[in-house]
Amino acid sequence: MNKTIISPSILAADFADFGKAAAEIDASGAKWVHMDVMDGSFVPNITFGPQLVRALRKRTQSFLDVHLMIVQPNRYIREFADAGADGITFHFEAETHAQKVLCEIRSLGKKAGIAINPSTPASMLEEILPFIDLALIMTVNPGFGGQSMIPQCLEKVEKLAKMREKAKLNFRISVDGGINENTAVQAKNAGADVLVMGSAFFEHSAKKTLIDRFQG
Ligand code: DX5
Ligand code: ZN
Repeated sequence: MNKTIISPSILAADFADFGKAAAEIDASGAKWVHMDVMDGSFVPNITFGPQLVRALRKRTQSFLDVHLMIVQPNRYIREFADAGADGITFHFEAETHAQKVLCEIRSLGKKAGIAINPSTPASMLEEILPFIDLALIMTVNPGFGGQSMIPQCLEKVEKLAKMREKAKLNFRISVDGGINENTAVQAKNAGADVLVMGSAFFEHSAKKTLIDRFQG
């Protein structure tokens, strides 16, 4: 069984002060930093690119959990790897040759992740499970923080956890979108072992208490 990890998403941080956000995450004891890269095409919003990964790499030793919400992610894998990402997760819906891209990520010495939108079935991932280190189940439609979790998405977490057990694999299952203290419990019970938290983390006044409650 994997230990639970909280990955605070800097999408909910002050965009004028990402250095402070990284320091807050480190101080809370959270082990990962979730970085949402959006291109205005795969999702309606635009955020940041590899430059920010490179800048934060200098500020934190934490695992940089980069979530690419961009079309044709194969074009940017090397850039994010060079910038210092530890894990690179891209969307199954955005890439024709997902297996090839997963192998490329691993060949660069990084953890390879695949993400699926709420409307994509978990079964779509069956054949590529041996090639992933992380499966990210979107629990909202990607693009914006602060949305409510779609509860039906947790059924996919359960399915994926069963598929993982059946295949005797050990990839992590991450949930992303609308994860707060209540939904985190549900996601954990469903089999998730990485909980991405944007608003719930940055709006929390006692961040260390929050992390201690769920991590480990
Ligand atoms: C949504 C992003 C999430 C986002 C989650 O498209 O992928 O990582 O930061 O934010 P909250 O936790 O506020 O729903
Ligand atoms: Zn994300």
